[in-house]
Amino acid sequence: MTGFERIEGGELACDGVDLGGVGERFGTPLFVYSRRAIEEAWRAYESAFAGVPHRICYAVKANGNGAILRVLAALGAGADIVSGGEMLAALRAGFPPEHIVFAGVGKTNEELSLGLERGIGEFNAESEEEITRLGEAAVGRGVVARVSLRVNPDIDPQTHPYISTGLREAKFGVPIARAPEILRRSRGRPGIRIVGLQCHLGSQITDLAPLAAGARDLAGLSRRLLAEGFPLETIDLGGGLGVDYENGGGADPGTLARQILPEIEGLPLTLVLEPGRSLVAGAGVLLTRVLYVKANGDRRFVVVDAGMNDLLRPALYGAFHRVEPVRPRGRDLVEADVVGPVCETGDFLARGRRMERPEPGDLIAVRDTGAYGFAMSSRYNMRPRAAEVMVEEGAARLVRRRETFEDLIRTET
Ligand code: LLP
Repeated sequence: MTGFERIEGGELACDGVDLGGVGERFGTPLFVYSRRAIEEAWRAYESAFAGVPHRICYAVKANGNGAILRVLAALGAGADIVSGGEMLAALRAGFPPEHIVFAGVGKTNEELSLGLERGIGEFNAESEEEITRLGEAAVGRGVVARVSLRVNPDIDPQTHPYISTGLREAKFGVPIARAPEILRRSRGRPGIRIVGLQCHLGSQITDLAPLAAGARDLAGLSRRLLAEGFPLETIDLGGGLGVDYENGGGADPGTLARQILPEIEGLPLTLVLEPGRSLVAGAGVLLTRVLYVKANGDRRFVVVDAGMNDLLRPALYGAFHRVEPVRPRGRDLVEADVVGPVCETGDFLARGRRMERPEPGDLIAVRDTGAYGFAMSSRYNMRPRAAEVMVEEGAARLVRRRETFEDLIRTET
């Protein structure tokens, strides 16, 4: 059994390990990850793109737990990073520096230097100013920075506005029309080698036509630049493949390959992809326990021990996650809001959901929370962050302990 399925008796299990037992052993709120589900998602990408030179660089921002990073590094993934912290985490987990791509509109001088020192494979530069600064830093160190320019193709990825990144009005990259002049100027700079183009249109993309359009635009520009003699090596189409939060599963890398490969056919370049969500979202659940059930007027609230500080997506994007009883009891169905203990009305995990009537002590699984779950968690309301567990080889293993009050005040002076 791979991932989250119900076993005999109806209990939800992770790779065959009952989640009721896991919740009791490690306490709640608790993120639980399936190693097999991550490996399966990885293999789906690898087989979809096996026919072309490619590198799948896992977007560390989706979930930076070292246990997950080590699984992906061991499988041969590269890493897509966006900060010095992610760089150190990726290197520590064993990603080869030459297979790491470094994105981000606000790389500091320290981060640029660290990347040069560690031999990061590609800096996905987001402005001409960044290329200038990177060149200076590279010359200072006597090295050459490998640069891929992030272009903004002005394509609407049809997703939540907060995570649409390839529209003209977004802060990311440089307008595609300006890319050639920027590259021509940057080309002669000491310390800089232009090796590719990159774009990332957004996240949670379910209609793949925009991704094909982005590939077409980048491929067209790559052809022009190759003709001008640029020594391009890569074409990086970013991440963005969405998951189906309503039903589980989601857009499949095979479909993505059918959309984008025809657009880049014949280009003598290595295709780089930067998936985050589609590799790990479905491989994780957030386990939470029901504390109280109460009614205010005609609304029924199920108060659980996980809040917006543990899983921000519903509060921030109005995101939908399935909530399911870990051990169904066959009770009647009711409509309820599943809310956390945080002092904000926006602190909900699910709203207006039909569910088996919960009772205090019940364990609930919030599905598809392997991506942008723990990674976006905070200590708001002085709530220690949740623990994380990985199920592998038939057993659950703690991969991050629960924080304590001491952790909350450790950095105070
Ligand atoms: N590459 C770049 C440059 C990115 O900015 C991102 C995500 C990715 C790759 C990975 O995209 P993915 O394959 O995961 O869609 N917190 C939001 C998602 C923000 C994504 C930001 N960039 C959420 O919870 O929905």
